[in-house]
Amino acid sequence: MEKERSSFSGKLGFVLAAAGSAVGLGNIWRFPYLAAENGGGLFLLCYVILALTFGFTLLTTEVALGRKTQQGPLTAYGVINKKWKPLGVIAFIIPSIILPYYCVIGGWVTKYFVTFISGRDADTVADGYFTGFITSQWAPIIFMLVFLLATAIIVYLGVEGGIERYSKVLMPALLIMVIGISIYSLTIKGPQGTALQGLKIYVVPDFKGLTFTKLLNVILAAMGQLFFSISVSMGIMVAYGSYVKKEVNLMNSINQIEIFDTVVAFLAGLMVVPAVFAFSGKEGMSAGPGLIFVSLPKIFNEMGKAGRFIGIAFFLLVLFAAITSSVSILEAMVSSIMDKFGLSRKKSTVIASIYGLIVAVIVCLGYNKLYFEATFSTVKAGQILDILDFASNNVLMPIAAILTCILIGWVAKPKTIIDEVTRNGEKFGRKALYIAMIKVIAPVLLVILLLNSIGVFG
Ligand code: PHE
Repeated sequence: MEKERSSFSGKLGFVLAAAGSAVGLGNIWRFPYLAAENGGGLFLLCYVILALTFGFTLLTTEVALGRKTQQGPLTAYGVINKKWKPLGVIAFIIPSIILPYYCVIGGWVTKYFVTFISGRDADTVADGYFTGFITSQWAPIIFMLVFLLATAIIVYLGVEGGIERYSKVLMPALLIMVIGISIYSLTIKGPQGTALQGLKIYVVPDFKGLTFTKLLNVILAAMGQLFFSISVSMGIMVAYGSYVKKEVNLMNSINQIEIFDTVVAFLAGLMVVPAVFAFSGKEGMSAGPGLIFVSLPKIFNEMGKAGRFIGIAFFLLVLFAAITSSVSILEAMVSSIMDKFGLSRKKSTVIASIYGLIVAVIVCLGYNKLYFEATFSTVKAGQILDILDFASNNVLMPIAAILTCILIGWVAKPKTIIDEVTRNGEKFGRKALYIAMIKVIAPVLLVILLLNSIGVFG
């Protein structure tokens, strides 16, 4: 007898879990920076248009693929077409590369949260504090372990009892915190100016000196960010799609996931850009670890008393965003192992987590024992973490997405997806757009994105 596949209890559970995956470090540490750098409102506009077209196409395809096949990413593609099994292997390798280093970064966030809540936040302002921490021998491993363990426990508890249950609490809490902090952020005055001046940089479109090449760069930046932000091509949305009940309206859910992700990204910008501007001017803006672990702690410190509370809330928010994303990555692996090898959820979770732990320790050692500086393509003086990040985000993910477009657009035909989405008689809005997108426009855009992200355009 076939065991019944676990599922989300309903639409809300699915939407919040998927939004939990989509809302991650990318929304908080990359989106605000990219927007501020790329003409503010112009970037926001490009991003929204791309989300409604390109993002919608990729997300719909993966979720419907999962629900139709009732399989995790490793085996789903082979069900659509036997010859395309290898695409499933790529879709399994991607989360396997991301999980370990994402947990290392999750460990850094955990460490900062603990430091802030235990009242030692002033320490984080010292020069070299962040580097000192990540290059130290044990601390990064221990915090990574805590983060990985929390991730593993949620996945171990299952789809409804773990992932859904936690997403239903963490995501609304995250939304409230991000709204609260951004309102506060808009009232700030600092040595470099007021928050409202920063707000202008963020939201008002800057057409000054806009050339065709510049516009193209803005579009490319928005596309790369969107692609990462909606968690496609990581196997995740196929796995989550496979847990969606047949009666759920997919079209509706997908729109809500995109709105949630975009709103949180926008709010993260409201929270970060005005504050950074008021204290450090436009030049103070940076992306990645530099923003969260170096610039912002300094700003919290300068805010005086309120800074500690804002800092605690901020790192808690980042922690929630990171954990719901790492849960989804681990789940993509676990669902694959369960479907391919017929193992139980518990066994599969233990296996995937032990693998993640071993590689994550190696990633941590990349900052001390195994230190080297690799320079290639777009990576400058990178460590193991940067190499894994490059291999997954810049190379394998665009490749997996291009192959998915070819499989669905040309081999299996868009009808495969459209039929799954409309199985209960739902209306497929933007159908013509979807077909044009999946067959031609999305793969062309993805090839450009791939070439750009491996550094072909310099
Ligand atoms: N969508 C996530 C973000 O914006 C990316 C991600 C998801 C990364 C899941 C890893 C795991 O940060």
